[in-house]
Amino acid sequence: MSDLTEQPTRPADSRVRLAFITEPAQANFHGTLHGGVLLKLADECGAIAALRHAGEGRITTAAIDSFTFLGPVHVGELVDVAAEVTHVGRTSLEARIEIHAESLPHAKRRKVAVGYGLYVALDAEGKPRAVPPLRLETEADFRRDAAARSRQAVRLARRAEAKEESFTAEIAERKTATEED
Ligand SMILES: CC(C)(COP(=O)(O)OP(=O)(O)OC[C@H]1O[C@@H](n2cnc3c(N)ncnc32)[C@H](O)[C@@H]1OP(=O)(O)O)[C@@H](O)C(=O)NCCC(=O)NCCS
Repeated sequence: MSDLTEQPTRPADSRVRLAFITEPAQANFHGTLHGGVLLKLADECGAIAALRHAGEGRITTAAIDSFTFLGPVHVGELVDVAAEVTHVGRTSLEARIEIHAESLPHAKRRKVAVGYGLYVALDAEGKPRAVPPLRLETEADFRRDAAARSRQAVRLARRAEAKEESFTAEIAERKTATEED
């Protein structure tokens, strides 16, 4: 269990980077990477940033959202995934995830995707556990924290809607009604 009385750490202290070279097995028949490949790595990178801030223990992903793919990634390119914690609640942490790609002969980096992961720290019983607060210092830290609070409000509304709404239940209801006619 991490010590909540410890000096809180800054967003930059959680920063994580993963780099890899894309392979044909990760691509579609046009030779561009599947979005899901990037999402998996983005989730892993965001979770490591959240874990760095939370200290030891388990982290789980509660939501991955606002992912925007800005351009394709081609086979053989160097991909760099970077994540940093932007906001910390009581037991939850948001990480911003940025992905860059680089065509190796040209060594010119371009931003290809940006999104957010919402993680929850868990105790040994798998229940949410409190995490240390985030120490905001720079203007960018405060700006990102404020934007993260707005995103979190939207996520919580989305979670409520996700629990309520179900088109598969509607299909089942329609089928039963048709059978009864
Ligand atoms: C995430 C999970 C542990 C939350 O458990 P819970 O009993 O609903 O706990 P709570 O409602 O107290 O939520 C804990 C925190 O997470 C936040 N949270 C939970 N679900 C969220 C969501 N969908 N979006 C945003 N925040 C969420 C809550 O706001 C709360 O934050 P806070 O403590 O900082 O205020 C639970 O929903 C879960 O296990 N989900 C599946 C996770 C998983 O398996 N992920 C891998 C994908 S297969």
